[in-house]
Amino acid sequence: MNINAAPQIIGRSSQDITPGYMSGFGNSFETEALPGALPIGRNSPQRAAYGLYAEQLSGSPFTAPRGANERSWLYRIRPSVKHSGRFAKAEMGLWRSAPCFEHDLPIAQLRWDPPPMPQEKLTFLQGVRTMTTAGDVNTQAGMATHLYLITESMVDQHFYNADGEMMFVPQQGSLRLVTEFGVISIEPAEIAVIPRGVKFRVELVDGPARGYLCENYGGAFTLPERGPIGANCLANSRDFLTPVAAYEDKDTPTELYVKWGGQMFMTKLPHSPIDVVAWHGNYAPYKYDLRTYSPVGAIGFDHPDPSIFTVLTSPSETAGTANIDFVIFPERWMVAENTFRPPWYHMNIMSEFMGLIYGVYDAKPQGFVPGGASLHNMMLPHGPDREAFDHASNGELKPVKLTGTMAFMFETRYPQRVTDYAANSGLLQDDYADCWNGLEKRFDPNRP
Ligand SMILES: [Fe+2]
Repeated sequence: MNINAAPQIIGRSSQDITPGYMSGFGNSFETEALPGALPIGRNSPQRAAYGLYAEQLSGSPFTAPRGANERSWLYRIRPSVKHSGRFAKAEMGLWRSAPCFEHDLPIAQLRWDPPPMPQEKLTFLQGVRTMTTAGDVNTQAGMATHLYLITESMVDQHFYNADGEMMFVPQQGSLRLVTEFGVISIEPAEIAVIPRGVKFRVELVDGPARGYLCENYGGAFTLPERGPIGANCLANSRDFLTPVAAYEDKDTPTELYVKWGGQMFMTKLPHSPIDVVAWHGNYAPYKYDLRTYSPVGAIGFDHPDPSIFTVLTSPSETAGTANIDFVIFPERWMVAENTFRPPWYHMNIMSEFMGLIYGVYDAKPQGFVPGGASLHNMMLPHGPDREAFDHASNGELKPVKLTGTMAFMFETRYPQRVTDYAANSGLLQDDYADCWNGLEKRFDPNRP
């Protein structure tokens, strides 16, 4: 196997490569793994250097407004038409797409235990377990939330998703994502986003891996507006990292899987599709370390809406009504005076899928554990349990730092439908709603 990344030497194996990155969000990047592979001053010269083929990959319609227009030019050993072929239907395993009405669980607040690491061999493609679906994959609106369990690297297997971009949120074990654009390594507390249509494979680094995956059928994730916060804090552009070009010149058989229209297809290739020697543009995978998020919050009294913790947002056609918001609850100081500090009780139109990467979530000190999940769907009430309520109502309001915690939420404007796996895998807690049982009536008209 030959995989090369600038400025490294031709002939190094992919295992030897330390991923290299370029900093910035949505930049027009340019990178080459061989000197002079990238044309300068033009996209499509009559003859590309090194006998490469020039190809454009468009993540937005050609005519999208400049701020939302996403495309990259790839200079590759073979054009993607050679990384295609006669497709056959392939197994989807437990991967589902919206709309999916395979289970009619009654509405409820739901919570799940983490899935145990399986003994059997599971590649990424075999290890995706869909928890919820929302919207409609065929209208490019909505999303799916998945768990993934991986015990084996993909070998001579590659994949691309035509249905959406994919955000990996590792909870246990590191991943190495070998993509057409370069190599990304992520560990728990980091995320990676692979755009729609980008070919890649998933390799293990330090043993079995477990995590969360958001499949975004809608508008590409972007940074939220900061409004009066100004030019800094929240997720800063410079902390997003995009890989430098790296390629394989490998003429051995591989299987290419494609998720398209909610179904899986496979074709066999005589060579690796990871063959992009140089590229430029703003449509590319990236990673981000959630620990670099700079939270902004209450320094007087009361509690801003949790949207203050938005890392990335997938906009819909309606301003302020996200297809998906990716929100985190990181380490932070709690200093608000005369304030109920945990998330307040509420109901809302958005549907919230939560996960916990590590630590304890302040509104649910019991039962919501790392690797587990919860779902508070559209207009279903939720909030702190009895223990959290008592603690927050009676504790001394000195400054307190929440440490060693990282929870997150995939929140969507569309109701989330629970899959059969989510309902029947044995992970669903049947007593979750009991966590509010202890909240007895406290009202006394004679005691203001
Ligand atoms: Fe909520």
